[in-house]
Amino acid sequence: MASLTLREVQKSFGEVPIIRGVDLDVKDGEFCVFVGPSGCGKSTLLRLIAGLEGTTDGTVRIGDRDVTRLAPAERGVSMVFQSYALYPHMTVAENIGFGMKMAKMPKPEIQARTEKAAKMLHLTDLLQRRPAQLSGGQRQRVAIGRAIVREPDVFLFDEPLSNLDAALRVQMRIEISKLHSDLKATMIYVTHDQVEAMTMADKIVVLSAGRIEQVGSPLELYHRPNNLFVATFIGSPKMNLFNIKVSEVTGGSAILSLPGGSTLAIPTRGASITPGEMTLGVRPEHLTIAPTEAGGVPAKVVLSEHLGGETMLYVDVEGAETVIVKADGLAPQRAGDNVRIIIAPETCHLFDKSGKAIVNGSLI
Ligand SMILES: Nc1ncnc2c1ncn2[C@@H]1O[C@H](COP(=O)(O)OP(=O)(O)OP(=O)(O)O)[C@@H](O)[C@H]1O
Ligand SMILES: [Mg+2]
Repeated sequence: MASLTLREVQKSFGEVPIIRGVDLDVKDGEFCVFVGPSGCGKSTLLRLIAGLEGTTDGTVRIGDRDVTRLAPAERGVSMVFQSYALYPHMTVAENIGFGMKMAKMPKPEIQARTEKAAKMLHLTDLLQRRPAQLSGGQRQRVAIGRAIVREPDVFLFDEPLSNLDAALRVQMRIEISKLHSDLKATMIYVTHDQVEAMTMADKIVVLSAGRIEQVGSPLELYHRPNNLFVATFIGSPKMNLFNIKVSEVTGGSAILSLPGGSTLAIPTRGASITPGEMTLGVRPEHLTIAPTEAGGVPAKVVLSEHLGGETMLYVDVEGAETVIVKADGLAPQRAGDNVRIIIAPETCHLFDKSGKAIVNGSLI
């Protein structure tokens, strides 16, 4: 197994820059997840690491080897794609063993590695079946088996679970996490799924338009986003944003003028803040509905979604886009109700006009 190091990696297709200078260190054995909006360059970056595309500039290192100019087969990486493209006329065992057969590995070695991978992926009883006789999750496990037997230094996964139904995704998510802890392999994993990113990653890389916005552990990104992009990208439902004015900074507190005329004092945590217009960010679980008709910010409920264990209240607030309050599963509020929402000061994030975080909540 090995670490992965990217330095100043750039990629243009024709004149169009797609990856615009990426520096990244992934440690040996780390599970690193790439997230970002569609088209931001996640798959391109994986393909650059795999060697399926050449870099326009910069270097790719795996362990202590500079692999920037090496062919895919020489890099010691295995990639699992979203469309897993198994050979339909071959059995599961033949599909898993195909790469090793092409590499002219001795038959007993092929058999031993195939059986080991099959055991790990619960495919032992299915080795003689063909892909058409398998469920989606079983097919995906065969595709992963094909990657495992090559014993790569680095595994690359490009949205491997997005074709599966919700229950299978959960099952495969747990299996890939187990596989990671069994193999202790370095894994890079692309997903659009917030839960996969938060639960599987040691480290999440948030990409936007070919650049890294922030790298951190899931909880670091959730609680200490560097900017508005990361703050609103990580977390579902999204962080709520309010246009507010900082009217005064005094004694370690910033006094915010909230929509509707009330004020809120939040801790500055040592940040130097110049009074003026800013964006306040508060996550849905840090807003509550006031028990009385006084205090807080006036709001009108436009939709209440009862999910069983919790209720998402969508409320209109002056000076903000629709705000979401995560309330109790039995919350009684209904569309049309006038309510007041209370903001917990210690959870507040402040962003300046350029979107840079000035204050993050104190939860971690
Ligand atoms: N071979 C290519 N030639 C020209 N442009 C390309 C090529 N491959 C990708 N692109 C462009 O590069 C950009 C990034 O594509 P990429 O597939 O890396 O995005 P992504 O982040 O994986 O998106 P998604 O989440 O939709 O999979 C897109 O604008 C895409 O159109
Ligand atoms: Mg992609």
